[in-house]
Amino acid sequence: MKVYKTIKEVKSYRANLKDLAFVPTMGALHTGHLSLIELAKEKPVAVSIFVNPLQFNDKSDFEKYPRDVERDLKKLQGVDFVFVPEPEEILGERLTKVSVADISTKLEGKFRPGHFDGVSTIVATLFNIIEPTDVWFGEKDFQQVVLIEQMVRDLKFNINIHRAPIVREASGLALSSRNERLSDNGKSEAASISKGLFKMREAALKGEKNIEKLKQIYRDLCTLEIEYIEVVDELTLDPITSVASKSRALTAVWCDGVRLIDNVSLYA
Ligand code: PAF
Repeated sequence: MKVYKTIKEVKSYRANLKDLAFVPTMGALHTGHLSLIELAKEKPVAVSIFVNPLQFNDKSDFEKYPRDVERDLKKLQGVDFVFVPEPEEILGERLTKVSVADISTKLEGKFRPGHFDGVSTIVATLFNIIEPTDVWFGEKDFQQVVLIEQMVRDLKFNINIHRAPIVREASGLALSSRNERLSDNGKSEAASISKGLFKMREAALKGEKNIEKLKQIYRDLCTLEIEYIEVVDELTLDPITSVASKSRALTAVWCDGVRLIDNVSLYA
C-alpha cells in the first residue's frame, strides 16, 4: 500500500488507472470506515486521511479530534493508496469556497454554521486531486451525503456517489470517531440515542404519522441533552408535518461534552 503526501504523487499514480473508488476520511478509522472500504473494493481504492480544519466551527472540537495516522495505516488493508496530505498541500491560499445553498443551512447547518461549506470545499478539492470514478459515504452523516450528491450534480463531477448503511455497536450506538472521547458511562448512555430512534421507526412502521408524537417517543427514551430531533423529507431535508413515503428522523445530542449525531429512516 502506497502512502502519498503530495498531489503530484497521487496524480502520477492515478494516471495509470481507469477506475478508482475513493473513501475520504478524517482518520481515527473504525469499523464504519472499514465497511466503506470493503464495499469500495470492487475497484482499486484510494483513502484520504485529512482532518479538515474548514469544517470545524468550534476550534476546541478541531483540536480534540482524535488523530493517530500510524494506527490508521495499520488498519488499511487491500487499499491501493492512502493520501495523507499536510494542511498546506490542500489548503494553499484557499480563497475559494464551495457552498451548496439551502442544504448547508438546514438541520446540522443551523447548529454548526460554516460546517458544510468546509465539507463541500474540501471534498470538491479532494475530488479534483484524486479524480475518483466512485466515492463511498456512510449514511451516519446523512445530510453530508445529500449535500455531496447535490454538489456532484451541480458541478458536473463525473463521479458515482454510493451510500453505505450506518454501522452500529451491539448497543445500537452508531460508530463514530468521536465515540473515542466518551467515558464508559457516556457510551452506555449514548445507546439511548438509537433506542429512541428505533422506537420512532417502529411506531412509524405501525402507522403513527403524527410527527410530534414520534418526537416525544424519542425524547422519552433518549436520556442525553438533545440539541435537535427532526423528521424530514429525506430528499429535500425539509421538516414534514406528517410521516410520508421517504421520511427520516435525524438527531444531534450532547454526551460527555461530545456532540453525536444519528438518524433512521421511518419507512420499510
Ligand atoms: O465525513 C468525514 O469524515 C468528512 O466530513 C469528510 C467527508 C472526510 C470531509 O472532510
